[in-house]
Amino acid sequence: MATSSLVTIFSFLFLVSFNLAADSDMLQDICVADLNVGVRVNGFACKPAANVTEADFFFQGLAKPGAATNTTMGSLVTAANVEKIPGLNTLGVSMSRVDYAPGGLNPPHTHPRATEIVFVLEGTLDVGFITTTNKLISKTITKGDVFVFPRGFVHFQKNNADVPAAALAAFNSQLPGTQSLASTLFAATPSVPDHVLTKAFQIGTKEVEKIKSRLEPKK
Ligand code: GLV
Ligand code: MN
Repeated sequence: MATSSLVTIFSFLFLVSFNLAADSDMLQDICVADLNVGVRVNGFACKPAANVTEADFFFQGLAKPGAATNTTMGSLVTAANVEKIPGLNTLGVSMSRVDYAPGGLNPPHTHPRATEIVFVLEGTLDVGFITTTNKLISKTITKGDVFVFPRGFVHFQKNNADVPAAALAAFNSQLPGTQSLASTLFAATPSVPDHVLTKAFQIGTKEVEKIKSRLEPKK
């Protein structure tokens, strides 16, 4: 095969693997995050190997249901990401547990750095995501079912039943990031100007102010 063809094939493979990768690959065995070091390049700084223990790879925070009924939307996401499990630093994976009260909604949101795959632990959920051509892909899923939300797409889950539901979510990122559409637009700090929102949503200032007053700024 001609050298130029080989170069083309290798360049293509490199580009494909680069574009498909979520988090960047690690260049060492482990790099347990030192969450106290302020400087971050792409992830966290590694703590000295001598200080690494099993606690860096362990988390019990998903064992019990979160108090979803106490939330405005009736859903609670408990994350098990690098901020809770420092050993995940550079490994490109994390999880969450989501609990839903009866009628609870995990409102439309995106994860800029990860594809998500959910497994229903308990109950039934109406789930969906929207593609860039505005096609809604939705389904009712129940205990034992799995559903995928591709990276970056807006998605949601709603528990339409009168009993609680719960799901486990896995991500191909140590810190997928979450942008909830309503609070991103209506509860940003500083605030997104009313004239931007009135024009974007084709509504009046009063409606914009009403929505802003009901959504808490992100902490
Ligand atoms: C569910 O969509 C989650 O992000 O935990
Ligand atoms: Mn999600």
